[in-house]
Amino acid sequence: MTTPRRETLEKLTPVLTKRWLSPDAWRLDVYERLDGYAALRKAIKADPDDLIQLIKDSGLRGRGGAGFPTGLKWGFIPQNDGKPHYLVVNADEGEPGTCKDLPLMTHDPHSLIEGVIIASYAIRANRAYIYIRGEAVHAARRLRHAVAEAHKAGYLGRNILGSGFDLELVVHSGAGAYICGEETALLDSLEGFRGQPRLRPPFPATHGLYASPTVVNNVGTIASVPYIVLGGSAWWKSMGTEKSSGPMIYSLSGRIANPGQYECSMGITLRELIELAGGMQPGHNLRFWTPGGSSTPLLTADHLDVPLDFEGVSAAGSILGTTATQIFSDQDCPVYATYRWLEFYHHESCGKCTPCREGNYWMVRVYRRILAGQGTHEDLDTLLDTCDNILGRSFCGLGDGATSSVTSSLQYFKQDYLDYIEGRRAPRLSEKTLVGAH
Ligand SMILES: Cc1cc2nc3c(=O)[nH]c(=O)nc-3n(C[C@H](O)[C@H](O)[C@H](O)COP(=O)(O)O)c2cc1C
Ligand code: SF4
Repeated sequence: MTTPRRETLEKLTPVLTKRWLSPDAWRLDVYERLDGYAALRKAIKADPDDLIQLIKDSGLRGRGGAGFPTGLKWGFIPQNDGKPHYLVVNADEGEPGTCKDLPLMTHDPHSLIEGVIIASYAIRANRAYIYIRGEAVHAARRLRHAVAEAHKAGYLGRNILGSGFDLELVVHSGAGAYICGEETALLDSLEGFRGQPRLRPPFPATHGLYASPTVVNNVGTIASVPYIVLGGSAWWKSMGTEKSSGPMIYSLSGRIANPGQYECSMGITLRELIELAGGMQPGHNLRFWTPGGSSTPLLTADHLDVPLDFEGVSAAGSILGTTATQIFSDQDCPVYATYRWLEFYHHESCGKCTPCREGNYWMVRVYRRILAGQGTHEDLDTLLDTCDNILGRSFCGLGDGATSSVTSSLQYFKQDYLDYIEGRRAPRLSEKTLVGAH
């Protein structure tokens, strides 16, 4: 393990993670001692439109993967329309490699709740939901406990802090399906239907939950709000880059010495993040990595100095996504890693549209053939052709995301595929996987 240099350590900017190491920060009394609910007291006196403007000025972009400007999204909610408005927090966190929302909700649930109250006040919503992944039992318990504490203290319920503003917050556990992280599938699931994406338009801003105006935001997005209210938009913009402002929680996993969450200003590079994480594991050299989860095209050791912000990663041919950097070494096989991800997409495909449902099914079979030493050169064309028929032709982003590691691994690591096909590498799967596969 290597020790990070002082100038690299200074790149850490703990904002959303700043309370994580404080014992019992999940309890209301401790949270309040650490500045908790100070932002709400300030925000509740402001005009809701000014709060929307503040978030617009901060340049905050969604932390759920797409990086949509948050203030703009809030501004889409029609006013004086006589309909109820809803805020829905997307706490599904299903993207492989992503682990930033769960620790936030476990260690600092009140920061999310405080963000929910301020955001709801800004968009004039009197009911909010946190849709949390069903398997995240511990985080859900912490959240429910924190909601009860906030209610008792007058931060939730009727006439919050004497302002006349009412808000009820419901923590809803899903059943654990990756597709329920897609915002419209999430809304269907929340309404009690099977979680499948909706046709858009109309968009959730006008026809969301129960066909009413709804904002859907990621946990990290909403938890950023109290800090912006207290620190101001200029302070927020002092971190990050021009179009990607603020700090970001990068989740590092794989072949590094100290995996975990590292919160840094946007624009940090993987080289610096690996240094912060104590270097690669002994005996491992970086070979490939995902900048933002398995739905984002792979990058290689040639991309160590790419700025990890929305623009930098996209210029390098990938997507910042959820900033889940999964790090693989020269001892890992990109063909096998891609196969394992495809198994996931095949399993999680909701089946609504043909390109994703059929394409992933067949691609898994082609990979099994290649990895069992029975692949052909034509298989590589079949994979690219299948991706071509999925990408941009699927009903939602799950299908598009499934193709990312296939096309990028073929772009950078075609020789690995050829090694299996031409018999230079021992089969990774037994022939049994080719028989009677479901
Ligand atoms: C298949 C799929 C899964 C997704 N899973 C999540 C998720 O777990 N959490 C999340 O915040 N966004 C997820 N998203 C993105 C959401 O649809 C949506 O863009 C996001 O919740 C908006 O919040 P933001 O603007 O704060 O980023 C997913 C998208 C797709 C296509
Ligand atoms: S792309 Fe996949 S997950 Fe999305 S609607 Fe189509 S089948 Fe369902």
